[in-house]
Amino acid sequence: MVDTCATFVKMTSDQTLDVIVVGSCMTDLVSQAPRLPKAGETIHGHKFFIGFGGKGANQCVQAARLGADSAMVCMVGKDFFGDNYIQNFKDGGVCTDFVKQTSAAATGTASITLNDAGENAIVIVAGANLLLDSEDLKDVQPTLNRAKVLVCQLEINPQTSLTALRMAQQCGVKTIFNPAPAIPLMDQEFYTVSDVFCCNESEAELLTGRPVSSVEEARDAGQNLKARGCGAVIVTLGPKGCVVLRGEGSKHIPTAAVSAMDTTGAGDSFIGALAFYMARYPTMPLEEMATRANHVAAVSVQTLGAQTSYPFKKDLPAALF
Ligand SMILES: Nc1ncnc2c1ncn2[C@@H]1O[C@H](COP(=O)(O)OP(=O)(O)OP(=O)(O)O)[C@@H](O)[C@H]1O
Ligand SMILES: *[C@@H]1O[C@H](CO)[C@@H](O)[C@H](O)[C@H]1NC(C)=O
Repeated sequence: MVDTCATFVKMTSDQTLDVIVVGSCMTDLVSQAPRLPKAGETIHGHKFFIGFGGKGANQCVQAARLGADSAMVCMVGKDFFGDNYIQNFKDGGVCTDFVKQTSAAATGTASITLNDAGENAIVIVAGANLLLDSEDLKDVQPTLNRAKVLVCQLEINPQTSLTALRMAQQCGVKTIFNPAPAIPLMDQEFYTVSDVFCCNESEAELLTGRPVSSVEEARDAGQNLKARGCGAVIVTLGPKGCVVLRGEGSKHIPTAAVSAMDTTGAGDSFIGALAFYMARYPTMPLEEMATRANHVAAVSVQTLGAQTSYPFKKDLPAALF
């Protein structure tokens, strides 16, 4: 089904990208109310806003804000939210040549109700995201072949993510795989196609079947995941930073204490930053990339929202570049 790299080279366009993300786009519809409604109940809230989310899109936007030439490969609906999302990418300098629109499903949405205690109730309708299939990757192949880094998650059809990762690996394009949201019976091939396998504590727990809440437990879980065939593993630990496992070694990379206001999308900020560093500083040690990605993600937790909280290159210290 997949051709050889030699064939791709002949087809390549002129475009050379740093980061390609094959993944999800979701429109967040957020209502703030004193409490969450019960079944059958109608209550009045005090604020409503629309946000741009979806793990794939978040990661792509963060990479672009740091200065990576980035493209998003995704499926949105032929609807208002889809048109709006494409405009959001364009405004952010993300290449939209591979954003497809379908009339068979609506753009993915996350309807979120937030109460005054900071709790939430969320309904996600993945919609068009689930219609991106391996066939849709054919057009991307020549461009992917020349890119530096591919990033995938699990908010789309897992087979599509796996096909993209395989295509990248066959052409020597570096891969980052974020198994989010984690699925219990994940295809084992996801490990062997990942140069960097990056997950959070709950994902590491689900995938290894062991509790992961301390640095030591993250190290053990990371070792277990790495033995399944990935190049390297990073387990993110919220305010505790992350653990990097590479070669025979492992290292805890702590992060500076900040006062967190909203951690939504922190993991995606970290992964977007990691993709930027892997593309632009290919010889930098992974531990140093993780140190810098910790720094970028820490900035993102200090303001409200996901993409709205992601820093641009100009907001960050020059030492990070
Ligand atoms: N409270 C915090 N203070 C400083 N940095 C943080 C904090 N929370 C998260 N981070 C940064 O973000 C990275 C990812 O966070 P985390 O492990 O919570 O991912 P996640 O659970 O996927 O995030 P999300 O909140 O988006 O679900 C961490 O490795 C760290 O660098
Ligand atoms: C890890 O990420 C998942 C999304 O895949 C999220 O639901 C979960 O709350 C996160 N876990 C932690 C410990 O932050």
